[in-house]
Amino acid sequence: MLAIDGPGGSGKGTVCRLAAAALGWHLLDSGALYRAVAVYAQDQGVDAEDAQALTRLAQSLPVEFVAAEDDTRVMLSGRDVTLDLRSETTGNAASRVAAIPEVRDALLGRQRAFRQSPGLVADGRDMGTVIFPDAQVKIFLTASAGERARRRYKQLLEKGIDANIDRLYSEISERDRRDQERAVAPLKPAPDARLIDTTAMTIEEVVTQVLGIVGDTIGNRRES
Ligand code: DC
Repeated sequence: MLAIDGPGGSGKGTVCRLAAAALGWHLLDSGALYRAVAVYAQDQGVDAEDAQALTRLAQSLPVEFVAAEDDTRVMLSGRDVTLDLRSETTGNAASRVAAIPEVRDALLGRQRAFRQSPGLVADGRDMGTVIFPDAQVKIFLTASAGERARRRYKQLLEKGIDANIDRLYSEISERDRRDQERAVAPLKPAPDARLIDTTAMTIEEVVTQVLGIVGDTIGNRRES
C-alpha cells in the first residue's frame, strides 16, 4: 500500500488518482470525508463549534463514493455533493472539523476499511503517521505556499469560479498552520516517508517518481 500525505495544493489529489489508476489499486481520498462532515453539518444546521454534534455526524456519515466514467462521485444521503466538497468554503470548514480528535476517531475505521486487495493508494494528512503506519511506501509531497496558491487559483478559474490569489495565499497559509499545529494527527511527514518537493515539477514528473519508488520498494509483488 502507498500512503501519500502533504498540504493542499501539493498535487497530492491528482497524483494519487493517477498512481491508483496506473497500479490498478483502490483510492482513498480521506480529505473528502472531512469535507463531507463539514457539508453534512451545514445541511443539518449543526454549529461548526459544536464538537459533540459534529462527532455524532461523523459517526453516522451517510457518505458513498461511486465510481463514474470520468471520476468518482461523492454522494451524501443520496445527493451528489462532489462539487460542493471542492469549494474553498468547504475546505476551510473541513480543516476546522478535522482538528476535533473525536471526529478523527469516528472516521478511523471507515478509512482503514478501504485497504483491500490488490492494494490502496491513500491520500491525506496522516495516512503514513496514524491511519496506515505500516504502509509499505510513504511519500510526503510539498510545494511552496506561493506555488500552491497559484495552482489553486488556476484550478478555480478553469472551473469558472472567481478567485483572488492573495486571499487564496492567506487561506492556504492559515490552513497549513491549523493542520500542522493541531494536537491530534498534525500534518507532518512520517519518519520513514520519502519527501518530494513538487514546486518545480509537473504532475507527470511527480507520478513517474512516485511509481518509481513503489516499483523499487514493492516490485511486482502482489500486495494489499
Ligand atoms: O485534502 P483536502 O484539502 O481535501 O482536506 C481538507 C481538510 O481536511 C484539510 O484542511 C485537512 C483535513 N484533513 C485531515 O485533517 N486529515 C486527512 N487525512 C485529510 C484531510
